[in-house]
Amino acid sequence: MIDNDWQLIDLITGYQPAAAITTAHRLGVFSVLGRVPRSAGDLAAELAADPSNLVALLEALAGIGLLRREGDRFAATPYTAERLGPGGEMGLVVAKEAVFAGAWSRLDEVVTEGRPVMEPWRSQLDRNPEQARAFLEALDVLARIAGPALHELEALAPGKRVLDVGGGLGTYARPLSEAGSHVTLVDYPLVAGWASEELEGTRVEVVGVDLFEHPSCGVPPGSMDAALVSHLIHDLAEDQAVELLRRVRSAIAPGGHVVVNDFAGDSGPGAFGALFDVMMRIETGGAAHSRKALESMLAGAGFERIRRLPYDDPLTVYIGVRP
Ligand SMILES: C[S@@+](CC[C@H](N)C(=O)[O-])C[C@H]1O[C@@H](n2cnc3c(N)ncnc32)[C@H](O)[C@@H]1O
Repeated sequence: MIDNDWQLIDLITGYQPAAAITTAHRLGVFSVLGRVPRSAGDLAAELAADPSNLVALLEALAGIGLLRREGDRFAATPYTAERLGPGGEMGLVVAKEAVFAGAWSRLDEVVTEGRPVMEPWRSQLDRNPEQARAFLEALDVLARIAGPALHELEALAPGKRVLDVGGGLGTYARPLSEAGSHVTLVDYPLVAGWASEELEGTRVEVVGVDLFEHPSCGVPPGSMDAALVSHLIHDLAEDQAVELLRRVRSAIAPGGHVVVNDFAGDSGPGAFGALFDVMMRIETGGAAHSRKALESMLAGAGFERIRRLPYDDPLTVYIGVRP
């Protein structure tokens, strides 16, 4: 529990370091600043920035621990140079969160009007495909850092025909295929095209289809030994999720497995699940469903022997069997 003003002040000013990092990323500070210290004046000239305010930003970044200060010169830390510098994949995550920060500033609308403020994913794909692809690339980075090693699951084991439902850019399809599973990734046609590029040279088959426009997710009924539904249920309201899981069930042969990987609203640590739930309501109109709700959705779609696999919070992975 928060019980003093200092803790509260820390929380309500939490946007400040985030804004400093985002701004530095946008201005190109992390791109131009390597491990050799440079003067702020030099940097200001290169970035066309106001020298005095740039120094303030650099000082703040040094205070946070993202830059190193040497006299009146600044340099990237080894971590910053590798992860936020040129080619550093955390830049994708910074850019993704900057988009979400704008949407979070409209949370009051979400709460009062009961709908998301971000436009539906399908129209984001049409209207801003570059940003949509960058979002999926950021998800890929995050999953590689923190996602479960799903290719180690027996249900998706080598030799099994696995359907990766809403597989994005192939975050899980790639390691599953490398482990020897026969993977078919299905996603919207535009995303499927990107996935094909990303997965070139692998044995993953890619199908472009709207999952809600095909009774068994774009593959013949009963043609899969297992299906993976990763980070898709939270984009959907409960009734839509059950409808999707029914279609997934149709794709799986009797005795085959469904694996659902998601973040539940009642998972920790701390407020992780609760905040993720708010984010889904801002972003998609879905929800981080509770663990109980995930179980009942799987049962409602006709799966049996549903159980949660023993991953640590916040990972929430359910498995069920098609009877
Ligand atoms: C949040 S991403 C998750 C990507 C990946 N499964 C993962 O775990 O990182 C959700 C994916 O589902 C896809 N998707 C959502 N609704 C879809 C639909 N109706 N038809 C096809 N794909 C859909 C999106 O295009 C996106 O690639």
